[in-house]
Amino acid sequence: MPTASIPPFITTDALKNRITELAAEIRRDAPGESLHLICVLKGGVMFLSDLVRAMEGDVSMDFMALSSYGSGTTSSGEVRVIKDLDYGLEGRHVIIVEDIVDTGLTLHYLQEILRARNPKSLKTACLLSKPSRRKIDVSVDYIGFTIEDRFVVGYGLDYAEQYRNLPYIGVLQ
Ligand code: IMP
Ligand code: MG
Repeated sequence: MPTASIPPFITTDALKNRITELAAEIRRDAPGESLHLICVLKGGVMFLSDLVRAMEGDVSMDFMALSSYGSGTTSSGEVRVIKDLDYGLEGRHVIIVEDIVDTGLTLHYLQEILRARNPKSLKTACLLSKPSRRKIDVSVDYIGFTIEDRFVVGYGLDYAEQYRNLPYIGVLQ
């Protein structure tokens, strides 16, 4: 399906406005702290890059790649670390930056492995949440948008590695 045929579901402006709010909220909750943001590749990359540019104060970043899905639209329930972090988390205020929480399996697993690395604090920011799909109770501190059970693409999110470059979020029919 050509990109142009996917209309905006969450517009570029709506994303920008909400992410600016989230950045302010995250900063308000950690005044004066240096925050270490962990981007979950590849879906979280647009969210991270806009989030950090909207955030005041000291921020550092690291990147991790996980795999819970094949190239389709349903969860295998299996999570693998494809690329680990470059830096340890000991003593840091860590914020996981994820594109979407769906069943919650990926995030739950990630929180477990990062908590074991002794961060000073560990919080999670997800741009999107599909609560009706949850298979495990996972805590998410900051959510951009709560959506129905629809498969969305764009702004980092893919279907079979396509559509990540859309500047908005659309629903894949
Ligand atoms: P979970 O483990 O089921 O919560 O799935 C999390 C991962 O599945 C996300 O980080 C996404 O990479 C992918 N995913 C879940 N729902 C969607 C969607 O609607 N569009 C694109 N990717 C999705
Ligand atoms: Mg992801």
